[in-house]
Amino acid sequence: MTSKNRREFLKLAGAASTGAAFTSIENATAQIQTVDSGLPPGQSAENPFDVVHDRRGTNSIKWDFSYDDGVTKEVAHELGIGEASRPLPMSLSDMEFQTSPKIISALEKRVQHGIYGYTKPNKEYFQTISHWISNQYDWQVEEDWLLITAGVMPAISMAIQAHTDPGDKIVIQPPVFYPFGSVVENNGRVVLRNSLILEDDRYVMDFDDLEKKAADPRTKMIILCSPHNPVGRVWSRQELARLGEICEKHDLLVVSDEIHCDLVYSWANFTTIGVVDDRLLDRLIVCNSPSKSFNLPALKTATTIIPNPVLREGFSTILRNSEQLFSTNAFGTLALQTAYEQGGPWLGQLKKYLEANYLFLDSYIREHIPNLRLQQAEGLYLVWIDCRNLGLGEDELKRLFVDQANVLPVQGSTYGVEGEGFIRINIACPRVVLEEALRRIASVVPG
Ligand SMILES: Cc1ncc(COP(=O)(O)O)c(C=O)c1O
Repeated sequence: MTSKNRREFLKLAGAASTGAAFTSIENATAQIQTVDSGLPPGQSAENPFDVVHDRRGTNSIKWDFSYDDGVTKEVAHELGIGEASRPLPMSLSDMEFQTSPKIISALEKRVQHGIYGYTKPNKEYFQTISHWISNQYDWQVEEDWLLITAGVMPAISMAIQAHTDPGDKIVIQPPVFYPFGSVVENNGRVVLRNSLILEDDRYVMDFDDLEKKAADPRTKMIILCSPHNPVGRVWSRQELARLGEICEKHDLLVVSDEIHCDLVYSWANFTTIGVVDDRLLDRLIVCNSPSKSFNLPALKTATTIIPNPVLREGFSTILRNSEQLFSTNAFGTLALQTAYEQGGPWLGQLKKYLEANYLFLDSYIREHIPNLRLQQAEGLYLVWIDCRNLGLGEDELKRLFVDQANVLPVQGSTYGVEGEGFIRINIACPRVVLEEALRRIASVVPG
């Protein structure tokens, strides 16, 4: 890392005014690829994931808005601190890495054309998705089962509108990605909390409770998070089969959000609910997207897989009635197709990097912050950390991490009361950034 880049990173990380020690950054220097190597992004001689990018000024929600959203505004005013002291965001679920160079090149070429009139993908697009799903997850899907939506959350919202009525009950499994609860409530449906159980340091589903909730005649749907954000579980085939049996018995639709499925660690195996039991196919709405694995969420393009033609027609009607069937985002669909056709090797490198980050975090916490406890992740670049040993309330935890450590995690309580006492940290960043965040946390967490 050149001194210019190091200065940039420290500024970016808000370290300048806190007088952060330079040693950890110096130590990491050997691993850092400089941004001014003269090579195009992603084609550096060394690891492109080590490059620190400045995302400020790109309207990044993580870098440009989390502060203005009021997360730390009051504190900043109170202390009279400015830009340089903004907490280092380890929060929102996108990555600090550039996407695959293949995708960047494809988009650049399309940008150069200069005409961005109405488009929609041809047959090849759907063939590409079907091949990806078959190669990656061993699920043979028909091309006409696939629908394009402007994201996974819009798809979940439309599935609720299409296939449940106001007042119906929908099961979620907290602590879980918080929009699952709000999308149910905002659509006038009722949330049923089938909370996960932390058993022997591992989250599992509470099937007895699920059975009871599913038996209520007003319960119509479950929204499954698979793999699970934030607890990092990758559900086994047996767990999914058990869930499927309960849904079959009580006639529940299963919306399976599989957005994180491409990012599973080498010690786990992802199973899509689509292959668990053929009898389930008629009740499945599976949501997928390359937006997490290839860092494309702003391109707003996802795939919804609905094998049952009646369910598919109901969903398509919502798309049609909201004028979303006619055309699609030319950049989003191009990026998705390029990711699935050419992005495999890049994804493999990314997974190795994330796994190394995870192992680094694990050993750092054991060695330097033993009062925190990492929940063993099976997938996702979002890690779930148990802070309950500290004996602090939610406000005190916030003060500790945000105000004292100058790091911005997501507090576990965001995902429901079940998450109180935990934080979620995003490790999809250059190792030097992760190390800086950990060093700051270690400096304030009592040993
Ligand atoms: C489980 C889960 N589902 C959906 C989303 C958002 O998906 P999209 O941006 O495609 O709506 C996220 C983003 O963090 C997520 O973690």
